[in-house]
Amino acid sequence: MPAWLDNAVFYEIYPQSFFDTNGDGIGDIPGITRKLGYVQGLGCNAIWLNPCFDSPFFDAGYDVSDYCKVAPRYGTNEDLKELFAAAHARGMHVILDLVPGHTSFRHPWFQESMKAERNAYTDRYVWTDDIWKGFEGCRNINGCLRGISDRNGSCAVNYYSTQPALNYGFAQVTESWQQPVDAPGPRGTVEAMKDVMRFWLAMGCDGFRVDMAGSLVKADADGQATVALWREFRAFLDKEFPEAAMISEWGEPDKSLAGGFHMDFLLHFGPSRYLSLFRENPYFSRKGTGDVKAFVEKYLESYNKTDGKGLICIPSGNHDMHRIQETLDDEECKLAFAFLLSMPGAPFLYYGEELGMRYLGDLPSKEGGFERTGSRTPMQWDSTLNAGFSSAKPEDLYLPVDPSPDRPTVESQTADETSLYHEVKRLIAVRMAHEALQSNARVEFLYAEDHAYPLVYRRTGETESVLVLLNPSGKEASCPLPGVQPGEEIYSYHGAASFCGGRAVLPPCSASFFLL
Ligand code: NOJ
Repeated sequence: MPAWLDNAVFYEIYPQSFFDTNGDGIGDIPGITRKLGYVQGLGCNAIWLNPCFDSPFFDAGYDVSDYCKVAPRYGTNEDLKELFAAAHARGMHVILDLVPGHTSFRHPWFQESMKAERNAYTDRYVWTDDIWKGFEGCRNINGCLRGISDRNGSCAVNYYSTQPALNYGFAQVTESWQQPVDAPGPRGTVEAMKDVMRFWLAMGCDGFRVDMAGSLVKADADGQATVALWREFRAFLDKEFPEAAMISEWGEPDKSLAGGFHMDFLLHFGPSRYLSLFRENPYFSRKGTGDVKAFVEKYLESYNKTDGKGLICIPSGNHDMHRIQETLDDEECKLAFAFLLSMPGAPFLYYGEELGMRYLGDLPSKEGGFERTGSRTPMQWDSTLNAGFSSAKPEDLYLPVDPSPDRPTVESQTADETSLYHEVKRLIAVRMAHEALQSNARVEFLYAEDHAYPLVYRRTGETESVLVLLNPSGKEASCPLPGVQPGEEIYSYHGAASFCGGRAVLPPCSASFFLL
């Protein structure tokens, strides 16, 4: 694993909405370069940049039409190269979003693939051999495109109908039109994707977040053919770019890490119980009615299966989820961040969540956002026009800025020592100062009971151990903690826990960390 992941704290940037330097109403790459100091000032040392490649933007750029070209609306390849260099000069890293599973239907490969005459791209995508044959019931296929050209076949799609599925083959071949993973078509796709990675890594990119990484091979019931495919990518990277960090959108760490990924996300879908932390009857609410036990059980299942082979990463949110602020207020968010920033794995903060930016529920869909659109609005910098995001006319912005007069901004949050921003910053600083709070230190849950508060765990690193005690509920909480002798307090919010007669007592809405 690249050494820089040991204490990486990522900040996710949605390029459309971060900072606009040329006044066209949409964020751009030079805007990110200009604001690197802000990200670093918060304490984050790595950035995940959502897709910034040429695209017709039917899915906000997850529908790529040229993998090797920055979308003109964001700038140029040269701008991206400058961003890499500026980040490196600050000791920061930048990972890009790789979308290997599908392209835009506008991609030149697909334009060729649609033709009736055979050509070099005929087998680049997953096609049936008859327009009336589809993919019903086929795992990892989300529908099909048909009748869009003279080619007599249907093409599989992965997500929206604008996103035809690239061909990595079928794990089980049951029809004559299905190709095994080692057929020339799938092999061509694999080599083309290596070229894409090579292109950006050679330019200074530090790795990739990989979109829908677990669904590349079709009819792959146990996922093992996709794992094998990622092992091949791993071997290629080990040879040519051993420092490149890879994180998957997969949500099954036992598979993704076996495939050679360094990190996998806890996702808001699938079996992880992630939503019960911050969103659905959230544990981190002061109502105190949530449950953390089921989450911890699932987490430990994955954690024990992967046994230190890589990182399970917990995001505060992302561009696909409602913002955390929809369910938790600033005070509750502080405790959510105390958890997020003291757990193993590399934490991922979604831009604006350190300020308490809100989810705007009433926005019309933009570029395939649908209900996700409200989480993608412009970053709120200050009290000037458009919250300092852009000098364009408000009606010309990519998405409107939160219209509330009391919307949080970087300016207001940094001026207030008691703000969410400052608490997040303090928590990142504590994490950076203590190896036992960083990515690889072990975690052991000491108290995580059914519908109960508090939550207590121990992190154990090479040189020290830290005891973390969290009580998000609005009432005092206590738990047995036999034999635990806390040492120096290294962090507390709303008062530290006290220890007496083998029990810990935690004030309402509090977090405290002690050396052991
Ligand atoms: C997951 C991405 O995070 C999401 O935004 C996108 O729409 C789908 N994958 C399809 O690429």
